[in-house]
Amino acid sequence: PASTLLAGQKVIVTSGPTHEPLDPVRYLANRSSGKQGHAIAAAAAAAGADVVLVSGPVAIADPPGVTTRHVETARDMLAAVTEALPADLFIGAAAVADWRPLIDADEKIKKNGGAPPSLTLVENPDILATIAKTGPHRPKLVIGFAAETQALLDHARSKLERKQCDMIVANHVGRGSDVMGGDFNQVTLLSHSGEESWPPLRKEDVARRLIATCANLLAEQAE
Ligand code: PMT
Repeated sequence: PASTLLAGQKVIVTSGPTHEPLDPVRYLANRSSGKQGHAIAAAAAAAGADVVLVSGPVAIADPPGVTTRHVETARDMLAAVTEALPADLFIGAAAVADWRPLIDADEKIKKNGGAPPSLTLVENPDILATIAKTGPHRPKLVIGFAAETQALLDHARSKLERKQCDMIVANHVGRGSDVMGGDFNQVTLLSHSGEESWPPLRKEDVARRLIATCANLLAEQAE
C-alpha cells in the first residue's frame, strides 16, 4: 500500500448500477459506470485496508489489491454485502435500482399484436439503510451517496437522517452534468456536524480525499 492510513481496517464498497431483469434478454438499469465506487475501493486498498468491492455489471476492470464480488441485482448486492460483513467502514457508491419488475418472465416477452405490456414495479431492499441499522454488525462508519437532479442538499440531508448513516456524499446527476459515466465529480459531504463542498475533481481524487476523511473519523472514534 501507498500509505497505512487504513491499515488493519476492513472496508466494504459498493459500485456500479444494478440490473433488474424483465425476462431473459431485458433489464432495467441506470447510467452508473462504477468509476467512482471502484476508485474508492482502490484508494482504500492503497491506504492499507482489507477491501471487498461489491460491483454491479460494469465495463471497467477490477481494481488491484481488492477482492471484487460481481453481482447483478439489488438483492444479489445486499446478499454479497451481508456476506462480507463485519467491516469497520461501509461506503455505498452503487446506483442501486430503487425498484425491480414484479415479474421476471421465464421466456422472452413477445409482441402479440395487442397493447404494449405494462410494467409493474416493486421496491428493492435498501442496502445502505439495512447496513446502517444499529446492531452488532453495524460498521463503525457508514457512508452513503446521494445522486440528485434537483434540491441536492435538501434531499441528501433527508437521506442522511432517514437511512441513519454517518455521512452522505452528495453529487448532481442532472442532464449534462456527466457525473454518471464521466471522469470528474463535484461533491458535498454532509454529516451530523456540518457540511463541506469540494471543487470538481477527478473521481480518483474524490476517492483519495474521501478515504483520508474516513481514516480521520475512524481515528477520532478510536480516541
Ligand atoms: O458510477 P459512476 O459513473 O462513476 O457514477 C458515480 C455515481 C453518480 C453513481 C455515484 O457517485 C453515486 O452518486 N452513487 C449513488 C447513486 C444512487 O443510487 O444514489 P441514491 O441517491 O439513489 O441513493 C442513496 C444511497 O442509498 C446511495 O448510497 C445508494 O447506494 C444507496 N441505496 C439506494 C437504493 C437502494 N435500494 N439501496 C441502496 O443502498
